[in-house]
Amino acid sequence: MTGLIAALDTTDPQQALAWAGMVAPHCGMIKLGLEFFLANGIESARLMGHRPVFLDLKLHDIPNTVAGAVRAVLPLRPAMLTLHAAGGSAMIAAARAAADQAGDARPVLLAVTVLTSLDAEALHATGVAGGPRQQVMRLARLALDAGADGLVCSAHEVAMLRAAIGPAPVLVVPGIRPVGSAQGDQARTMTPTEAAQAGADWLVVGRPLTTAPDPAAAAAAIAAELAELAAQVVA
Ligand code: C5P
Repeated sequence: MTGLIAALDTTDPQQALAWAGMVAPHCGMIKLGLEFFLANGIESARLMGHRPVFLDLKLHDIPNTVAGAVRAVLPLRPAMLTLHAAGGSAMIAAARAAADQAGDARPVLLAVTVLTSLDAEALHATGVAGGPRQQVMRLARLALDAGADGLVCSAHEVAMLRAAIGPAPVLVVPGIRPVGSAQGDQARTMTPTEAAQAGADWLVVGRPLTTAPDPAAAAAAIAAELAELAAQVVA
């Protein structure tokens, strides 16, 4: 069944805790990103207590530096950790070797392919010749071959990736917009149902939860949508 990850993007630890309390019953994981982490420091991730934490740090540097960064966050025991696939094979392999030092507590290493905020034109402007789908596929193969456990991609690439890489790699999909919610800065979006049907393992949802009048109800509605889909698949 496709799981729900709540992205709690804020600099305010009390706000993050309050949101976590509201949405956690409906989510499999809490995602903390650069905004929270840089404002509050490494130890702040422990605020989430027993809840599984996805550290979305999108690491992208030379292999030695990324390996050091991975080692620095291992004591926090993140369930998932992101790095940019565009950092290249050696960087991803170095991150994997560093993460392996945690043994059974190794975080799931996710390689970000093409940011969901980039459309074809914006991607082209960065110097990439092909469109988002081609670039996602190229980076996906590179990252998985180098030791990543899974990928972050838009829902528009999930079906293509599943067909190419099989069921094992974890596919995590941001850019999720329930019917009627604002697009914001996201470009390659889909609804929770569409993304789950395409084959995503996890959906990342931020502002549709955190700006909702009732974040708990918004999370519960998406969780119910995903549970209903899963029930249809079993039936
Ligand atoms: O608020 P919204 O639902 O757009 O939040 C999406 C979250 O997913 C943000 O925390 C963002 O950093 C993250 N993300 C993304 N696109 C990626 C990788 C992560 O939007 N490719």
